Amino acid sequence: MSDRSGIFAGEDPFVIAQAWLSEAEESEINDPNAIALASVDAEGLPNVRMVLLKEIEAQSAPSGGAFVFYTNYTSAKGVEIEQAGKAAFVMHWKSLRRQIRVRGLTSREEGSQADEYYASRSLKSRLGAWASHQSQPLSSRTALMAEVAKVTAAHGTNPKRPPFWGGIRITPLEIEFWADGAFRLHDRFRWRRPDPHSAWEILRLNP
Ligand SMILES: Cc1cc2nc3c(=O)[nH]c(=O)nc-3n(C[C@H](O)[C@H](O)[C@H](O)COP(=O)(O)O)c2cc1C
Repeated sequence: MSDRSGIFAGEDPFVIAQAWLSEAEESEINDPNAIALASVDAEGLPNVRMVLLKEIEAQSAPSGGAFVFYTNYTSAKGVEIEQAGKAAFVMHWKSLRRQIRVRGLTSREEGSQADEYYASRSLKSRLGAWASHQSQPLSSRTALMAEVAKVTAAHGTNPKRPPFWGGIRITPLEIEFWADGAFRLHDRFRWRRPDPHSAWEILRLNP
């Protein structure tokens, strides 16, 4: 049992995360949905970079609750996540003085949901996904623009989603909600479960 109330209240952690993100959308100057996404390489060396979180799916959704971002599957993160089947991220809102930490299992979202998200992007972004061999060496900016021209000629104004680009869904085993408290006496609630089919155990943690 814990004394959760106010911004920490609720029985679906994904709904709490959605509510916190909605609040951040009102107060952050830029990219309230930015997350620092961590993966590990084959040697266990951690890697981290920012990506944009595009969907927070509630526990009642078909996925059973998850976080989704989009990327190139052949990028460093794409390869590392594919290999480990695991990832973690943190989102921090300076304006709200809050963070959410997530650790979990990964799977690809490369079906109609990815097609829909891809189609919702600007044409330049859609072509950019085709043109960028993300994380591979690039000889010059000119070479990249030449690649953009090439894929524009090849794919026209209605490009299909590239097969090497799509969503990655993180199904959490752990979600921590953190909010700043006076004198560094922050509030922390950790939701944890041994596997995605088990019930959450919710604990208040020391700051
Ligand atoms: C605010 C911000 C948002 C970003 N969003 C994405 C994103 O949604 N997907 C993505 O692939 N890269 C995104 N990037 C670029 C990544 O940080 C990174 O440079 C790129 O994905 C290559 O990472 P990797 O070599 O570790 O795979 C974003 C960068 C910033 C600063």
